[in-house]
Amino acid sequence: MQVTAIRSLDELPTGTALAVFWDGPTPIHPDVWSVVQRRYQGVPGQLMERRRWKGQLGDVLSVPWLGSETGPLYIVGLRDEHHPMTAETLRKACGALGRLVQGDRVDRIALTLPVLENDPRMSLRAALEGLRLGQYNFRKYATTEPGEPEPSVLEQVFFLDVPEPVLASVKTVAEVIADAVALARDLINEPPGYLSPERLAEVAADYASSVGIMVRIYDAADLEAMGAYAFLSVGRGSESPPRMVHLHYRPETKPVGVLGLVGKGITFDSGGLCLKPSASMLDMKGDMAGAAAVLAALWAIGRLKPPVEVHGVLCCAENMPSGRASRPGDVVRAMNGKTIEITNTDAEGRLVLADGLVFTARQGAQKLVDVATLTGAATVALGSQIAAVMSNDEVFQQAFLASARRAGEAFWPLPLERDYKTLIKSDIAFIKNSANSREAGTIIGGLFLSEFTEGRPWVHLDIAGPFWAEKPAFYLAAGGTGFSTRSLIQFTLDQVEAA
Ligand code: BES
Ligand code: MN
Ligand code: ZN
Repeated sequence: MQVTAIRSLDELPTGTALAVFWDGPTPIHPDVWSVVQRRYQGVPGQLMERRRWKGQLGDVLSVPWLGSETGPLYIVGLRDEHHPMTAETLRKACGALGRLVQGDRVDRIALTLPVLENDPRMSLRAALEGLRLGQYNFRKYATTEPGEPEPSVLEQVFFLDVPEPVLASVKTVAEVIADAVALARDLINEPPGYLSPERLAEVAADYASSVGIMVRIYDAADLEAMGAYAFLSVGRGSESPPRMVHLHYRPETKPVGVLGLVGKGITFDSGGLCLKPSASMLDMKGDMAGAAAVLAALWAIGRLKPPVEVHGVLCCAENMPSGRASRPGDVVRAMNGKTIEITNTDAEGRLVLADGLVFTARQGAQKLVDVATLTGAATVALGSQIAAVMSNDEVFQQAFLASARRAGEAFWPLPLERDYKTLIKSDIAFIKNSANSREAGTIIGGLFLSEFTEGRPWVHLDIAGPFWAEKPAFYLAAGGTGFSTRSLIQFTLDQVEAA
């Protein structure tokens, strides 16, 4: 997608589509609107009246235009009755626009950019990310009828009155971020029979090494040698052996700090011997969404090259029942020596992450972030639009939340109430992996992981709600969302200012 600045609509090539934004009943750029009204001979205004256009977020009014000079016109609403207008509002609106124009076979469009939050760069970034993500489709396994076209893609986007330097600096970042989110989505959407732990590790190695990131893949024998028995216990029931992938990005200049990002990479979660009911397994090919976000973020970081050292660790395994699978009642020892009684084989994410966190800390990460589709309870608490965040360090958590807000992703903190540790006290081991009751399930997951952070400041992201979209919405397609990828990238970039 080519992105170009223009000073006047007269510069547009013949047939270019045009999008203008409205905040409820008012055009964002009244001057442009009057030019548009003249260009389209008053038709837009009439149509808006007849359709009772309200300018609400998600409403896109299309004015097909059969004149030879101008292309179709899109009037895009930004008014959100529940939220103030932010860059994220624009990301959403542009997502809806990107999706709509695919059906109209538009390949060139001009936009008049609304500047939101007083931040032209963030606004431009949001608009570009929205357009690209709105046009995301997972087509790898799709078949089309003869003559049926593939969805069209925007090849060129023009921005009216955006200063050239702003455009030049922002367009690459937006492209890198949208590419990263698309990669995460692709991996989540891949069928689990294709994306085994081994293949996920290979894909990770390919993407990382393509941008100069060091890669090391640990197989079962390597994991055994380092004493990662909690990790190993999860993959034991599967015909596809586990893999831990270590991605190491080192900047060319002196790093401002060393960050560790750890992702849950369960390529399919059947529950193991504590088998899930079949309906609950449907989206469990996406139980590697945390690892996908970490890989995608590392790929973006390798392209953007901030002066931050980053370890990305993907904990890849398949959770299956079999004669070799771990049983409820088994006890395993994690890398840090702590013993774990496995009381539920479906609480497998925390087992791979326990060793993943210890490993990452021991690689020299000063601060840790883990990302995981860890608990169904997170969806019960916060729904499918908001992820849970927990931390052992209030300042670190606030810094993460600030970055997530800038990236336009919603997280909400839950307390790591230490008193609840009694719920996962084991009679025979240091800790057990699940409580007897369903109380505070998300917090329990966080408390369990807090035992494996090696004293580092740490935030835990439970993305079990937003990792998946049941239906398309704004810049989301149905399926994997890539949620948390943008926040991880933004958080890494923000380390530079914080230092
Ligand atoms: N991967 C699931 C959590 C999940 C459920 C993610 C639905 C996304 C959508 C996780 O491994 C799991 O099974 N968690 C259990 C924990 C319990 C056994 C303590 C759960 O949520 O029931
Ligand atoms: Mn599970
Ligand atoms: Zn799981």
